Amino acid sequence: MDFFEYRNGELFCEDVAVADIAAKAGTPVYIYSAATLLHHYRAIEQAFAELKPLICYSIKSLANLSVLRLLAQAGSGFDVVSGGEIARALAAGGDPSKIVYAGVGKTDREIREAIAAGIGTFNVESEAEFENLARLAAEAKRTVHAALRVNPDVDPKTHRYTTTGKKETKFGVDIERAERFFDRYGRDEFARLDAIHLHIGSPIYSADPYVEAIRKTLDLIARLRDKGFSVTALDIGGGFGADYEEHRSPAAVQYAQQIVPLLRGSGLAIILEPGRQISCNSGLLVTQVQYVKQGGERNFVIVDAAMTDLIRPALYEAQHFIYPVRLGEGVPVPQRKMDFAPPAGTKVDVVGGVCESSDFLAKDRVLPPAGRGDLLAVFSAGAYGFVMASQYNSRPRPPEVLVEGDAWRIVRRRETYEDLMAGE
Ligand SMILES: Cc1ncc(COP(=O)(O)O)c(C=O)c1O
Repeated sequence: MDFFEYRNGELFCEDVAVADIAAKAGTPVYIYSAATLLHHYRAIEQAFAELKPLICYSIKSLANLSVLRLLAQAGSGFDVVSGGEIARALAAGGDPSKIVYAGVGKTDREIREAIAAGIGTFNVESEAEFENLARLAAEAKRTVHAALRVNPDVDPKTHRYTTTGKKETKFGVDIERAERFFDRYGRDEFARLDAIHLHIGSPIYSADPYVEAIRKTLDLIARLRDKGFSVTALDIGGGFGADYEEHRSPAAVQYAQQIVPLLRGSGLAIILEPGRQISCNSGLLVTQVQYVKQGGERNFVIVDAAMTDLIRPALYEAQHFIYPVRLGEGVPVPQRKMDFAPPAGTKVDVVGGVCESSDFLAKDRVLPPAGRGDLLAVFSAGAYGFVMASQYNSRPRPPEVLVEGDAWRIVRRRETYEDLMAGE
């Protein structure tokens, strides 16, 4: 579900023609729909309403301040993984007590800043980190809340680079070690270990791995409570799928149907950390065709966006649906599916201008005929899009635009050559 649609052969974001934004803001450009962001946030809120969860939007998926402000105003907390993300959350008006802070490599500086800011929960990923947190909290004479991130050893059946809840990952501690962890640290005076955190991977296209992970964790919590530890909260992490491929991902309500009954009556405060389900199909990357070229058997559509703007295809072999912004004569409105092959289309690779063979946005994709100057929309690019953009090949990063109804504004300007050299 999103607020991008074709009207009379032209792609609109809410009530703004995408081509108008591209004409004024230039290309490549990221375009986000405020209504879509809020729709997905509210869908999760409603689906899990019975548990009254704290929803901590995962900043890493799309971190623009204007987007964070929108979500903070809707009541969202934030999931962060660095001092920089904490700074963003606070700058966007986020409530520090609604921030959960994960990450295996928190530095002393980051921990001190987080303690000073009054961060809600530190999601602790190792014994060494807990000891450091306890030391720094004692030094600051501040009580902090900590959740132990456990690996329930569940296979989320997603890309190996985004699988995080199996035994062999660097994240969290094995669930078997959790009791010993509580025995050792569960009565610390300054770092109150009173919650469990899970994040088993992403995107996860079924509620089943969550069910398995939560069941194992509830058993653990029961054992901890039997030992007299007070476990008051369970953070089930992020990873809900999004529609890169139409109808593949369950909706929030489908995850909730299986998860809510497990947690009902548990006496636990529930935290969710959705990222991409909120941000993924709230954003487009719009790019302009520069050249069309044949190389051996292959047809290349060379565009002005590249792996530096959207690295997911190169990094995760991710599939993003791509289609013209303006539909030419006889080009149908797409069924938004990866396997939608328009009649009279040609199989092409959509590639950027970066000097790497892994620089592609799509491979072997059937697209309507595209020529120099045409605009293409890369869909479902809101999550892990701009946030992973780089300046490799000295390419200034693109601007970000936020659309609200019939209004739009640049919420991050295009970088300049001066920006590229500013810190040198
Ligand atoms: C700890 C944690 N929480 C939440 C998320 C958000 O995942 P997603 O955007 O797939 O919901 C991530 C993603 O890596 C994560 O590491």
